[in-house]
Amino acid sequence: MLTTPRDPSRPLSENLHLLKWVEKMAHLTKPAAIHWVDGSEEENAQLCQEMVDAGTFVRLNQETWPGCYYARSHANDVARVEDRTYICSLSKDNAGPMNNWEDPFKMRKKLKALFNGSMAGRTMYVLAFSMGPVGSPMSQIGVQLTDSPYVVVNTRIMARIGLSVCKLIDKNVKRVVPCMHSVGAPLEAGQKDATWPCNTEKYIVHFPESREIWSYGSGYGGNALLGKKCFALRIASNMARDEGWMAEHMLILGVENPQGEKTYVAAAFPSACGKTNLAMLIPPASFAGWKVWTVGDDIAWIKPDDKGKLRAINPEAGFFGVAPGTSDQTNPNAMAALRSNTIFTNVALTTDGGVWWEGMTETPPAECTDWQGNRWTPEMATKAAHPNARFTAPASQCPTIDPAWEDPTGVPLSAIMFGGRRAETIPLVYQAFNWSSGVYMGATMGSETTAAAGGVQGKVRRDPMAMLPFCGYHMGDYFRHWLKMQRNLSETPRIFHVNWFRKDIAGKFLWPGFSENMRILKWIVDRSRVRALARETPIGWMPRFEDIEWKGLDFPREKFEELQSFKGSDWISEVIGHEELFIQLHDHLPPEMIYERELLICRLRFDE
Ligand code: GTP
Ligand code: SPV
Ligand code: MN
Repeated sequence: MLTTPRDPSRPLSENLHLLKWVEKMAHLTKPAAIHWVDGSEEENAQLCQEMVDAGTFVRLNQETWPGCYYARSHANDVARVEDRTYICSLSKDNAGPMNNWEDPFKMRKKLKALFNGSMAGRTMYVLAFSMGPVGSPMSQIGVQLTDSPYVVVNTRIMARIGLSVCKLIDKNVKRVVPCMHSVGAPLEAGQKDATWPCNTEKYIVHFPESREIWSYGSGYGGNALLGKKCFALRIASNMARDEGWMAEHMLILGVENPQGEKTYVAAAFPSACGKTNLAMLIPPASFAGWKVWTVGDDIAWIKPDDKGKLRAINPEAGFFGVAPGTSDQTNPNAMAALRSNTIFTNVALTTDGGVWWEGMTETPPAECTDWQGNRWTPEMATKAAHPNARFTAPASQCPTIDPAWEDPTGVPLSAIMFGGRRAETIPLVYQAFNWSSGVYMGATMGSETTAAAGGVQGKVRRDPMAMLPFCGYHMGDYFRHWLKMQRNLSETPRIFHVNWFRKDIAGKFLWPGFSENMRILKWIVDRSRVRALARETPIGWMPRFEDIEWKGLDFPREKFEELQSFKGSDWISEVIGHEELFIQLHDHLPPEMIYERELLICRLRFDE
């Protein structure tokens, strides 16, 4: 049957607010055309084709990589830009010392000037999206206006988009978060477009009170896919505080034991510290009957149900995962998920129309094209893929995706894990004594910085709950919100700290990690069901060697003890690190944090 193609400039919503806003923003940014995104397959195919024609996309070998595309970004647009990210609350005090702040009136003026004519010569896409399953009581809706078709096709994987969301908007049941986005590269008549248009000047701006996002100058990841960090973390953390729930930088997984019981765990690790790996873990062969199910790999929205039990949803629909280091050995589930219908950005392109990145295979290809478009061979000192190269893959393609991953009411949470990248000081695993000591544990966590944030790498920074770049209000108030959550709970999840990254004096990882992390995960879920033993230590509950399942791994007791050791002298500097954070937050810091610190100091012995 032949149907006439729909006119994409025709609005897909009847919501007058939305129509007026679109009109107003088009007046400001002056695009050549407006396209209401319906989210259909045909539309997606057309956008991808247009990007192939423009040189933004390379269609990969469709036999080996069906439905996959490849993009190379501009060299100055490869990661989130934390120093260009702003929380423009009415009062500077509400943004807190961990966020950049500018007076909202001044910032709006600045943005108006930047966006004035910024879409000239381009199409403005009207992209309605739902974070969380469409219509779930825990979901939220946004509309992103963007001049980047790359953003549209990525968001189609990362969120639920298009017609079904427009219909929901027309029911007028939920507030819509307006998200403005421009790559900031207007085209003059006849001007040839860049393959990755962007601007050296970047602004990632949030107005928490009016729940608005304005992003300018970048087309990459969290800077541009506004549903992700800008909405689902920075704006949602504000909504969550006001409404009694939590928006967290956490993976969600379910552990099924041989009896078929499932225990759900959420884990907060900073960017590029192993959330995707843990969320998709495959237990070692010796763990017969155990299975790990994936709910999400980056963001969790958590809310108490009417019985006072915490439930969590993954607001996303895809994985925007770090490619380097991902392989059939380290993460076979991610490899299976990205085999088709995936967008690769800043990895290397092989001569047979495939992709490659450091760590994907043991032997690199004899020759490929690197992420900057240059010929690359293994002898070269440069990397073929950018360290923050990423894949955008549909979550539904993950072999271990949990049957309940789209449950509108979420999954019940029994444990929360915190963890960072720490070469020294921090043991492999320990458990907080209770909720408030767990909040202290999360609040004071530190991690060595990675490529995901740009800037210096490998320096320990305090990254409370892995939310340092993502908390949309004062960090001290955020700690208070965490503490207050307990009052609405009949059952609190147990809280744990893990560190897969401890090194020996030779600089080698002490812990094999990856699928062997199952041994630690098992102890954690068994502890949460009050089935595993532990000993009390000054920093928390710790498994003894005999409390861990070692079947199938020859791991010496001494090495485990080295991994679990903590020295008073190291912890002096650790506690001083906590204090440095607290001093910055002092006028909003809940007293519980001081009490917990004092209790920790009292328990530690500093003379060893
Ligand atoms: P974002 O998507 O940036 O929020 O990060 P993520 O936490 O999902 O990061 P991801 O899982 O992509 O982190 C990948 C990095 O963690 C790679 O460098 C991996 O080698 C490393 N990694 C993951 N699991 C382990 C582990 O068990 N042990 C060690 N040593 N490294 C690990
Ligand atoms: C992170 O940096 O934590 C990410 C990638 O998950 S991005 O979406 O670019 O922020
Ligand atoms: Mn992340």
